[in-house]
Formats: sequence, structure tokens, C-alpha cells
Amino acid sequence: MSDKPKIFLTRELPPETMAILREQSELTMNPEDRYLTKREIIEGVAGVDGLLCLLTDTIDDEILAANPALKVVSNFAVGFNNIDVEAATVRKIPVTNTPGVLTDTTADMAFALLLDAARRVSEGDRFVRTQAWQGWGPLQFLGSDVSNATLGLVGLGRIGRAMLPRAHGFSMKVLYWNRTRLTEQEEASLNVTYCELDDLLKESDFVSVHVALNETTRHLLGAREFALMKPQACLVNSARGPVVDEKALVTALQSGTIAGAGLDVYEQEPLLEPELYELDNVVIAPHLGSGTIGTRTKMGNMAAENCLAACHGQLPPNLVNPQIYA
Ligand code: GLV
Repeated sequence: MSDKPKIFLTRELPPETMAILREQSELTMNPEDRYLTKREIIEGVAGVDGLLCLLTDTIDDEILAANPALKVVSNFAVGFNNIDVEAATVRKIPVTNTPGVLTDTTADMAFALLLDAARRVSEGDRFVRTQAWQGWGPLQFLGSDVSNATLGLVGLGRIGRAMLPRAHGFSMKVLYWNRTRLTEQEEASLNVTYCELDDLLKESDFVSVHVALNETTRHLLGAREFALMKPQACLVNSARGPVVDEKALVTALQSGTIAGAGLDVYEQEPLLEPELYELDNVVIAPHLGSGTIGTRTKMGNMAAENCLAACHGQLPPNLVNPQIYA
């Protein structure tokens, strides 16, 4: 009998990760490149040591209850709002994530959305493809300047901080709002200014969201907050959809309360508020923040390492509920 741990994987990961998992575990997995249903996940976790899942899998107590001997829930993502961590903690099941390795890649994406929304790249691309373009025009597709503009960072965790060198590279002034304020020395050395959220919204030309999704950040930005923003401002969200009230955002974009938005995440992925498909002043990407070959491979290897460690009874390196060992 093999002494390799049994792992259930909910969807294929990059080849390097698959090789690690195939070599070091008795792997069962979703054979198709699609989401599994809750029923399928429940069947999949039965009798395994470890569950390796994705941000698109909702892991609730019913799933955890399907295998009382489960040793770990390893999420292939830095965000873990898809997992009922409280329920896992009650059951003493470690939950792990993949922090750090996707920080720069996700900040690159946020900055790409910011540039695109500001300079109307995707909108221009769509227009050129209609073959209706009559050539350069002095008033065509005018956007707003990124260089020297003010960027407001809502959240200054790992990814928020990674926005700083990018923004400073464009000579932007950077404001931030965060649950905990940095020390004055840190603010000075990072060249950022702390603001209350309302003030940040009033003063920024670009507002970029970098908070984790939890009950305190759900709908953090809605109609009241958009009304505080400048009419020429753009919102960027590469964090989690439900941090922004998507219906209120549609209204703000339709009415010109704000000028534009760049979105990588949505409240009900893969569905969007229907108007977003039609609005020209929004750039809509399919949740590709961490989507590079290199980064997804690092995330996969990290998720595999977390999963294998916990299956072997070791402390997994990226534990989000350390209180289970207290
Ligand atoms: C991606 O959205 C992640 O949380 O890793």
C-alpha cells in the first residue's frame, strides 16, 4: 500500500505542479477543464487526506463534513473568501493560501487596467476592428493623463504596496487608505500619504482597490462613494468583485458620476451586471490578475507544497488559520 497522501484536486493546474502532485500523492482530480458542482466536490473529498481547490470553489461546512478526516484545504489563490475558514477552524482543519508569489503579477494587471481605462485602449481597439476609422483626429478618443495624476489605493497590503513603484514610475502622487495606518517614517520612505476613505475618493484621479473581501469590505464602494469621486476619475478593481457594488457602479458609469472603470473581478463571476457588456467606458477582463505562466506555476507549486505538508502532519508554510494549533 502506498504511503503517499491522497489528494483531491478540483481542476487541472500548470504542468510543473501536476508533476509534483502526481509524483508525491495519490491524486484524484476533475478530469475536465470546468467548475465542479458542490455534489462533485463532496464526492471528491470523501476518503482523501487533502483538498486542493480554487477560488471558484465554495468550500462550506457541508463539504468539510463530507470527510471528517480531511487534513487540509489548500487554496490555489491568495484570497480565501471562498472557504468557510471559521468552519474549518472549528473542525481543526488547516486552510492555506498562496501569498507573495502573485503580488507583482496582480499589480501589473491593475496597472494595465488603469492605463487602459485612462487611455481607452480597449475601446479604441474595438473601434478600429469595425473598420470605420477614418484616420487620426485631434478630438478622437481623448482620455486622461496617468503621468502626474493622483492615485488612491484602497488597501495597502502586499498588492497595494506593489502599486507604489509602478505609480511612482509614472510620477503619480499616491494616497492610501488602510485598516491600519503606517508609521510616519514608513509613509515617508514609501512616499505615500494617508487619507480617510472619503477624502481619498474626493482627491484621486484613479482609485484602485486592493483590500481582501470580508464582511467589513463587502460593498465598501457603492453609490455614496462614487458620488464623492471626481467625474473624470476611473475606478480599478483587481481584488474581489463584491468589494464594489456592481449595480451602483453601472449607474455611476452610465450617468457620468465617474468617467470609467477597469475591472478584473465581478460580484457573481462569471456573470456581470448585463449593462457592463455594453458600456464603452469600462474595461472588462476575465479575472486574470495572477494569470501568467510563471505566476500560476508558482501558485500551483505553493498550493501543492502546503497541501502535501499538512497531509504529512507538518505545519503548512502558508497557513491562514494558525489558531487551530494553539
Ligand atoms: C486571485 O484572485 C487570488 O486571490 O489569488
